[in-house]
Amino acid sequence: MKSSSTKISRELSRAADILNKDGVVGIPTETVYGLAASIFSKEGISKIFKVKERPSFDPLIVHISNLHQKEDIVREWPALAEILAKNFWPGPLTMVLKKNTKLNSMITSGLDTVGIRMPKHSVALELIDQVGPLAAPSANKFGKTSPTSAEHVKSEFKEEVFVLNGGTCEVGLESTVIAIEDTKILILRPGMISEKMLRDATPHARISYAESSASPGHLKHHYQPKIPLYIFEGEVSAETISSQIQNQNWKELELDTSPAIAARQLYESMRKLSNKKLDALIVLKKPNHSSADWLPIWDRLTRASSKTY
Ligand code: TXA
Ligand code: MG
Repeated sequence: MKSSSTKISRELSRAADILNKDGVVGIPTETVYGLAASIFSKEGISKIFKVKERPSFDPLIVHISNLHQKEDIVREWPALAEILAKNFWPGPLTMVLKKNTKLNSMITSGLDTVGIRMPKHSVALELIDQVGPLAAPSANKFGKTSPTSAEHVKSEFKEEVFVLNGGTCEVGLESTVIAIEDTKILILRPGMISEKMLRDATPHARISYAESSASPGHLKHHYQPKIPLYIFEGEVSAETISSQIQNQNWKELELDTSPAIAARQLYESMRKLSNKKLDALIVLKKPNHSSADWLPIWDRLTRASSKTY
């Protein structure tokens, strides 16, 4: 045990050193790995967009390790934010709030708001304790599948990026993103903090879902694996699938019956299967997948897919 904790503290200091010198680092979180830079480093922030090939109109999420840090980031802290932070932080919930005017506007793509969250991962929290808040999108090239292990990040960016290894991500899907205005909560990106969980924590809030294009960067086509993914609804035979997609060289991406486990495994399965010599991936949408627990998983699968049959 001792040697592994020595190793992690050595890697933590290396990561802190790179971040303090305007660099970017791959960091573990409970959702997916992030590509991080210090919010105080202009150069680091611009490197994120460059390395990720991310368009500048897509804002980054700021990660904090304690509530005092929010002062440099937001200029308002509504009562709802306080309740939600108490209930769900550290955890997979990003709140979009009015930004502090001093915060680098590259992080927010020029918007007047900023996404902020406290990740539930001891290594990430320790790193943020050392170097301060970190801006980080998911650590994948723009539009591609998010990484849920250090190996995924390394294979995406090769030698270009140092990756702090914190094991496999427990949640496996990106955080729920919500905008807060007065007593209203708008769900911009569904995630494992569900509408029901938000409702239970804030019975007086009005909760609704944004149009799917409301969150900049959360585009129709996103999370895409290297080969096309097709969704089939209802009972279909292998013959039907082959004839519909006019190809026999496909494989089913199977989903676990538990949504929490299916979420954890989703991106790993997508990556693994698309590295095989296949022409397509198939996902079967079953009747029980219509329940609320499956919403974030099907949000990502639909965006990753080329077509639904
Ligand atoms: O779980 C996560 O959220 C991961 C880990 C690394 O924290 N991060 C992540 O970042 O998924 P990213 O950049 O891939 O997705 C963040 C999304 C953006 O696409 C953007 O739409 C939304 O959050 N977002 C960020 N700031 C926003 C803002 N000010 N207004 C509206 N949406 C915002
Ligand atoms: Mg992303």
